[in-house]
Amino acid sequence: MQWYSALFRVFLCVVLGLALGWYFDRPLAGAAVALLALALFWSYQMSRLQTWLKSSDPPPADLYGLWGDVVSQIHKQRRVAAENETRLQSLVDYLLESFASMRDGVVIVDAQGAIKWCNDMAAEMLALQFPEDSGQAITNLVRHPDFKSYVSAGDYADPLYLYTNGDSKRHLQVIITRFGKGDSLLFVRDVSERVRMDQARRDFVGNVSHELRTPLTVITGYLGTFLANTERLPDYLLKPLQQMDQQADRMENLLKDLLWLSRIESEERDEKRESIDIKALLEELKEELTAAHPRRRVLLRLSADGRVSGDYRELYSAISNLVQNAMKYSADDTPVTVGWRVGPDGYYLSVRDQGIGIDRAHIPRLTERFYRVDDSRSSATGGTGLGLAIVKHVAASHGARLQIESEPGKGSTFTLVFPPESSAEKVTMTEQRNGQC
Ligand SMILES: Nc1ncnc2c1ncn2[C@@H]1O[C@H](COP(=O)(O)OP(=O)(O)OP(=O)(O)O)[C@@H](O)[C@H]1O
Ligand SMILES: [Mg+2]
Repeated sequence: MQWYSALFRVFLCVVLGLALGWYFDRPLAGAAVALLALALFWSYQMSRLQTWLKSSDPPPADLYGLWGDVVSQIHKQRRVAAENETRLQSLVDYLLESFASMRDGVVIVDAQGAIKWCNDMAAEMLALQFPEDSGQAITNLVRHPDFKSYVSAGDYADPLYLYTNGDSKRHLQVIITRFGKGDSLLFVRDVSERVRMDQARRDFVGNVSHELRTPLTVITGYLGTFLANTERLPDYLLKPLQQMDQQADRMENLLKDLLWLSRIESEERDEKRESIDIKALLEELKEELTAAHPRRRVLLRLSADGRVSGDYRELYSAISNLVQNAMKYSADDTPVTVGWRVGPDGYYLSVRDQGIGIDRAHIPRLTERFYRVDDSRSSATGGTGLGLAIVKHVAASHGARLQIESEPGKGSTFTLVFPPESSAEKVTMTEQRNGQC
């Protein structure tokens, strides 16, 4: 109904009142009575509309004019809303059903950290009871300390790995994704098999390396004896024996690095609590390297006083790998600068050289085992390609990250960034814990 027809009805009512009043010689009183009657009629209609709005009954059929229009509009909107609700509900049911049938655990947690929903798999893996636990804070029910600190830190960029100690001893991977207004979706996956395989691989590499050391010691021993008496050797044997000695040396270095890597990997879970004075470590390293390479200049730029909590031998070996790389891949007359300073997000240990640099395409793969930018070049320099893999593992187990900046022909800077609290915190290991490089 248009506004002007409603107005016309009011006007008609007033005119009728006036006419009736005229008949009794009281036109204004007639109009007032007509308006009053109209107001009473509207109030009655309004109260019926109000009663109907509170109910879910079908609309009353005897509401006329403007009120009838209002009722039919509201009814139409109610019907559309009900249809939408049914459609959304069936979509939610469908999604919940697909989550429920997943082999991974799924938990929906609200912005306050309370459980809203979880599937059977999550209930089993995290020892939850649903729907009984709905509304409870998840950190009160999953009482693993690593889980609590991971959730409260709120940084979900890397997944969390948990080891459940209860009846079912398993390794779980937890991935948290935020959605909506601060709600979170937790995916829980049983990765026990993968961890077991990684452990088996590590053990295998460690055992083989260990077993190979004894025969190699015998071979290098004999080679050393032969080469100590070169004057008694026939000429045609001298070169092959020297090459064998060189390759046996490489093999020895390779086994040493493999054993060291497998030791670091197996100790990653242990807490590292030794407080290390990095300045003193760098002074010692400089002394050792200048004794071995007297012609090389190693400059120390030490401006921070912070200490790092960790394993001295591991850190020494990682930093030594970086400095030796810097020496190996730069010219003898250029300096290698080692810096220790405070930066925006922690302590920065940087090793800078003015050497050959590395093409940008190789940088993401440098820390993979045996990865070398140029195989022929590395064979010439005697590298095993395990140095940066060791650095990466040591960094991860100390909560540090490795940054690599390099420009071909100008030089490279390798930086280990230690978090400010690295002295106190046990760091949650991510993929490295599972031995992925
Ligand atoms: N400072 C650097 N400048 C240029 N290239 C580098 C530098 N550091 C590492 N690289 C490149 O990265 C590769 C991997 O280094 P990594 O230390 O892992 O192995 P490596 O030096 O060959 O052997 P290792 O250190 O085990 O003796 C090297 O082969 C080299 O190509
Ligand atoms: Mg190296």
